[in-house]
This record gives sequence, C-alpha cells and structure tokens, in this order.
Amino acid sequence: MKGLILSGGTGSRLRPFTYTNAKQLIPVANKPVLFRVIESIRDAGISDIGIVIGGTGEQIREAVGRGGRWGVNITYIEQDAPLGLAHAVKISRDFLGDDRFVMFLGDNVIEGGISPLIAQFADSDWNSQIVLTRIKDPRQYGVAELGENGRIVRLVEKPKQPPSDLALVGIYMFDHHIFEAVNAITPSWRGELEITDAIQWLVNSDYAVHPYIHRGWWIDTGKREDMLEANDLVLEEIEYIVDGYVDRDSQMGRRVAVQRGAEIINSVVRGPAIIGENSRIINSYIGPFTSIGDNVVVENSEIEHSMVLENSEIRDIEARIQDSLIGRNVKITRSPIKPKALKLALGDNSQVGIL
Ligand code: TTP
Repeated sequence: MKGLILSGGTGSRLRPFTYTNAKQLIPVANKPVLFRVIESIRDAGISDIGIVIGGTGEQIREAVGRGGRWGVNITYIEQDAPLGLAHAVKISRDFLGDDRFVMFLGDNVIEGGISPLIAQFADSDWNSQIVLTRIKDPRQYGVAELGENGRIVRLVEKPKQPPSDLALVGIYMFDHHIFEAVNAITPSWRGELEITDAIQWLVNSDYAVHPYIHRGWWIDTGKREDMLEANDLVLEEIEYIVDGYVDRDSQMGRRVAVQRGAEIINSVVRGPAIIGENSRIINSYIGPFTSIGDNVVVENSEIEHSMVLENSEIRDIEARIQDSLIGRNVKITRSPIKPKALKLALGDNSQVGIL
C-alpha cells in the first residue's frame, strides 16, 4: 500500500499563524502535526508516501525532506490551487498507480494510530474504507448515514440537520476505482472537487465502501480552538523525562518533559507540560497542559493551558496567561516607559483578551 498526505490548502481558519506558516507544521506538544501523520503511516508499515503541497510547499519540503529521518520515501505532488480533496487524489494518479492507498489529511491527529485500520483494509476486498467517529454536534463535518445492515447509504457535507452523529474522520482508504469517481464528479458550490461526492459515487456505483467506527479521540486542527484541544490530548500521553537542566529550587510535576538544553530555574512546572529545546524558564510558573516550544524564554511570569511556539519571549507579566496560542518570535514584556498603556503590534486576525 501507499500513503497520500494532503498538505496543501490555504489554512484560512488558522490565521494569523498561517500567514507565515503552513498549518500542518504548527507543532502540537512540540511536534508538527504533519510529522505525527508521517509517523502513524510509517508505523502502519507503509514506506512510500506522497505529499500533496500547495502555496506553502517550499516550507513543507524543507521541514520534511526526502523522509530519511523516518525511514520512508517521500514524493512531492504539486497542486496548483486548493481545488478540493478529490482534486488532490486526481493529480496523484501517477504516484499512486494501481496500488491501494491510505489518504490522510495533514492537519488531523488521531489517537492510537492507524495500523489496525490499514491491516483490515489491506486484507479485505473492499474498494474503500472510510473512518467515522461519533460527534455530539457533527454539523461542521461530513456526516454518514448508515443503513440497517451497517452499510453506507449517504454522505452529506456539513448538513444543517445531520442524519446521524457519525462524522467523517480525515483518513480514507481506496483502491484504483477512486480515479473513476474523481473523474466522474463535478465541482461543488464552493468550487471544489469534494471527496464526499467521490465516495458517494462509489456507493452509488455499488463498489464496496466499508465504514470503520473509530472509538478514540480525533482532532481536525484546522481551526484555532481545536489546536489547544489537540495539544491537551497529546500532552495527556507525556511521561516524565528531563534531558535539560532543572535547578534545586524548582518543583516539577510527574508528567513533564524537559527537552535537550532547556533550563528550569527557580520555577514550578506542573504537568502535563513540555518545555522545548534550549528554552529557559526562570522564576516562573508553567501550569498544566502547556507546550513551550524551542528557544523560548519565560521569566517572572505565569502561564498555563497554552501553546508558545519557538523563539518567543514572555517576561515580567503579572497577569497569568491562560488558554492562549502564541506564535513564533513573539515578545510579551512589561514596558517601564510612560504612559502606562498597552502597546501592541498584532497581525491581522489576532485575538487578545485583556482584563
Ligand atoms: P481543509 O482544512 O479542508 O482546507 P484548507 O487547508 O484550505 O483550510 P481552510 O478551510 O481553513 O482555508 O483541508 C484539509 C487538509 O487537506 C489540509 O491539510 C489541507 C489539505 N488540502 C489540500 O492538500 N488540497 C486541497 O485542495 C484542500 C482543499 C485541502
């Protein structure tokens, strides 16, 4: 089997982060979501992986390279414009050939990996397997209606009145018949070739599409509010490890990872939390569910349930920072210069909540 990762798109819902960066490279618990996707495909025994790239392709190529780090072979497939998930499949025909493949959205994180799903599909004679999960309010997702025999009857994209609570997870398995489907469908009202339409075409054409119900958590990190949730869930799995330096005056929780070269000085770190490489935490409090990226400084400040990306600085902030997503190269400091006022330089679409 082959793997196909979709890492193009515009990422408009994650602005301002995606003005300068590919959303698939935003780190969750200090590891880019895309790296987690590559690892779960590799762990399922697949080493031939295609990555569909768009406007942020250069960044993706630079971060991932040819895949040697993971022991896999990466082929890049350029998509001129984000014309839809089914369009991404269409342009990957040369890479995929007639092989069965798994397609994984490059901004999705799933608990427990995909090895069981892949094994099940590889041994079956199904033409496709889709992954569904129960969601309280699935109106934002593709939703499946199953018949009495457990077969798929219908798939609807973002329905106002969902026919079930079974949302489509961003992992799909296909054989070569999917190319008939993507060539047969036409663009939707939003101008995209929809993968739900292609799967519906398979169902209508009597190809065997098997639904797999996933029971662990699954997060689509495409939206800002989901990023922190994904960070929480991944941090839940963190174990105590100190590869950096912790001084005797600091207190460390049980589930804290201190990465290489990081220093914790006279501070309290309550897990689950991760402190990135070469970061310095000085006279500060890092609360549960916080990821501090690489080369970050937190001094005389308190932060919890937040993500801070690399090369940022937080110094001398009296109020506790909470529920925050802080990008790269950000500086949050106290200014002694009068008048006493908030002095902000925020990118478009930033959000700040002030006491
Ligand atoms: P989406 O999150 O549906 O689309 P998007 O990245 O354009 O984001 P937004 O809606 O916020 O503007 O895409 C899911 C994944 O598939 C994501 O990793 C990007 C990728 N993708 C492609 O590679 N090609 C495409 O044509 C589309 C639509 C998405």
